[in-house]
Order: sequence, then C-alpha cells, then structure tokens
Amino acid sequence: MVEPVVLVHGGAGNISINRVEPKLVGVCTAARRGYKVLISGGSVIDAVQSAVQYMEDDEAFNAGSVGAIKNVAHPVDVARLVMEKTPHVMLVGEGAKQFASEQGVPDVPIGQLVTKFAKESLEKRKAGSVSTTTELGGVGTVGAVAVDAQGHVAVATSTGGINGKLVGRVGDTPVPGCGGYADDNIGAVSTTGHGESIMKFCLARTILTFMEQGKSASEATLDGCTAMTRRVGNTAGAITVSNRGDIGIGFTSERMAWAYQEGGKVYSGINKEDKFCEDA
Ligand code: GLY
Repeated sequence: MVEPVVLVHGGAGNISINRVEPKLVGVCTAARRGYKVLISGGSVIDAVQSAVQYMEDDEAFNAGSVGAIKNVAHPVDVARLVMEKTPHVMLVGEGAKQFASEQGVPDVPIGQLVTKFAKESLEKRKAGSVSTTTELGGVGTVGAVAVDAQGHVAVATSTGGINGKLVGRVGDTPVPGCGGYADDNIGAVSTTGHGESIMKFCLARTILTFMEQGKSASEATLDGCTAMTRRVGNTAGAITVSNRGDIGIGFTSERMAWAYQEGGKVYSGINKEDKFCEDA
C-alpha cells in the first residue's frame, strides 16, 4: 500500500515579502482540504480538484482562467468536465465557455475575478517597471498532485497567466506535458513559472521521463527545472508525486509556495531552505 499524499503549489516567482505569509497559509489550507477529500473516500481527481478550487478562490494566488476561458470561478471544474464528458483533451475560448454553460457552470460577472493586486501589477508593467517574463505579479498559478493508497495519481493546474499577455495567448498550464502530466505508471507533476519556457521544454513530461530513467521524484523535479532554465532561460518550479508516494519539490525561481499533508502532519515552505511542519 502507498501512503496517500496531497501536495500543492501556489506559484513560483519573485514573490514579494508581504505575500509570503498569506500564500503559506493558503497552500497549507489547500493541502489539508485535498487530503481530507482523499482520505474520506474521494478519488485522487476529487482531491486535486478540491485543493485547486480552494486556491482559485484565494486572492493570495489570483488564478482565474484556463484555456482562455473568462468569467468562470473554477476553471478546474470545466477542465474535469472536458475530460469526463467529451472525447477531447482541451477546449478553449468561446467553445469552452459555451460547453461550460451547457454543463451548468455558472457565470461570474465581468471584472469580479480581477483583483487589486492584478490591476496594480498591470499598471506597473505598463509603466515599464516590471517585465512580462513572470506569471501575473510573479504568482499567478496554482497546482496540486495526489497519490492514493493504490498508487493512482492525478494533477490539476490553474492560472491567471502572465502579466501583460496578448489577447489569445495560451500558456503552458492547460497544455498536457507542460503545465501538468499524470500517468499511473510513473507519477504526476504540476508546474509553475514562465509558460513559454515551460512549453518549449515540455517541463512536466520531462520530469516524468527523468523518473523513468531512474531519478527519484525529488532529483527529477529539481533537475527538470534547472535543465529548463539552462536550455531556454527564465525560471520555473514544479511539484511531483510518484506512484509509490515519493514527493519532489523544486524551483529555479526565487520563491515557490508549497505544502503537503501526509498522515497527521502538514509540511510547507516558500524559500529554498524552508521546511515547516505543523500538526494537521
Ligand atoms: N505558467 C503560467 C503561464 O505562463 O501562463
């Protein structure tokens, strides 16, 4: 039997010091929520969906659109419906929105998903004081991976994208093998960071390939991010679980918020050297 784990991230980047505490609280809460779903009899898919839903609602993360869908509070719910109710892997834009409406996913009024922090980040970019090479304000993506006692794995990733993106831009997050990948034969990975670089490098699938070649989840995750940064530039982070319950957490960005629950303990961190532990 595998020890069940739910591991989450709240985005990698140059996270400002005043956002460290809210993000740590948020990832710990999301990990607890996903774990509770898993040990109460939910599937690994239910667990990652629940953890990501929580972070999609939390302003500390500011995730809010997947596959170019606007005005949906929980894009992760639409992604699951696409997986389970259609023969397709991905829907984007108007078609995705129409499908979501047909499935009964409620609309959120225009502007309600735009936070003060996101507006300020865009204003700073327009004024030329920040670049476009980070996620929204450096912190725009959330993700979760889970493994259950039978070794089944799942991933969910959701994002608000990068600051100042062109209309129609799709980043790595919904692209299989880039923003996430799950295979019961190996494990599951969720990534965060500069989407164009992650896509050029197929970061999530590359980490699983490293594991197939014999690296541990931990080595493969850090090596994958490091190799991406060397090969194509920019930074990224990733979280991984293997089908045996081993975990990997790695990032080449300055910070990445992460947390996981295993048994009665919740572990978390945001700086490279962090590993906090508290009772669940
Ligand atoms: N990693 C999220 C994005 O670049 O859109």
